[in-house]
Amino acid sequence: MTDDKVCLITGGTNGIGLASAKELASSGVTVTILGRNPEKGLHCVEEIKQYAGHERVDFLLCDLSSQESIRKAAATYLDTQKPIDILLNNAGVMNLERRVTVDGFEETWAVNHLGYFLLTQLLLPRLKERPKARIINVSSDAYSFIKGLQWDDLQFEHGYKSFKVYAHSKLANILFTFELARQLEDTDMIVQTLHPGGVRTGLGQHNHAPFLKILYKLIGPFLKKPENGAKTSVYLCTSPDIEGQEVGYWADCKRRELKSYAKDMDAAKRLWDISLQQTGLS
Ligand SMILES: NC(=O)c1ccc[n+]([C@@H]2O[C@H](COP(=O)([O-])OP(=O)(O)OC[C@H]3O[C@@H](n4cnc5c(N)ncnc54)[C@H](OP(=O)(O)O)[C@@H]3O)[C@@H](O)[C@H]2O)c1
Repeated sequence: MTDDKVCLITGGTNGIGLASAKELASSGVTVTILGRNPEKGLHCVEEIKQYAGHERVDFLLCDLSSQESIRKAAATYLDTQKPIDILLNNAGVMNLERRVTVDGFEETWAVNHLGYFLLTQLLLPRLKERPKARIINVSSDAYSFIKGLQWDDLQFEHGYKSFKVYAHSKLANILFTFELARQLEDTDMIVQTLHPGGVRTGLGQHNHAPFLKILYKLIGPFLKKPENGAKTSVYLCTSPDIEGQEVGYWADCKRRELKSYAKDMDAAKRLWDISLQQTGLS
């Protein structure tokens, strides 16, 4: 039964997140999409309502590149006293050039990792009030393009390489998920991470690089449609099969084996402590 469930989704204004929001809402879930662009967000809310056939869809302003914006969004939601059963951390960016956020962090790290981390920490007390609440983090097989976190330069101040930086943030998603699950192992909460597959979305398209446009044209036909890319997220957010299962990495609605360094709990704890500092939570 999903009719009584409430889900918050980051990046619900495009690609896999929008498709996930539509599927979750149409299964009866009450959905709030978090996004940085109110105009686009409200347009998506209408699209999701129409698709789902009910009105229980909302937008919440949250720019994940700003910790102040994340704190405001969390406070606004918590003030409503509404419950949260599912938090789907999905938003992501891939930048060809190094960008720095208002908080002074490299943007991919800030949005893709610190955004998941801070929002989760702020909403965790509300999630814990519900039985079998779920935190689902969208990662990527791109994590396997590196062999571990680059501890001496997490902000890529030296030698910025777009895909390496993205892979780094996606490895951080997995390590964060595993440490969070360890900390919650005495609760009934469900914490999982996933790879959606190669999906035709807006990821990286804001870079306006001609070679990327050509690449997308070439590989586009081989990529999944967003609604298919959303399947594993929706499965992990709603399926009763997931209850009681230990933390893992999923793709195509099945468990997928991880490289050993992605399950390294010393690295996961080290990342956790750094993330607490970087978000001012320590
Ligand atoms: N596409 C793939 O092949 C693929 C493969 C593996 C993993 N993934 C993962 O899937 C997730 C979704 O990506 P996608 O492919 O659906 O890409 P997408 O179409 O570009 O969607 C990304 C979403 O993140 C939001 N976002 C970006 N920066 C934000 C910020 N600062 N604050 C708030 N929201 C922000 C975007 O908002 P706007 O609408 O405002 O731009 C959009 O809703 C990402 O975590 C990505 O790493 C994708």
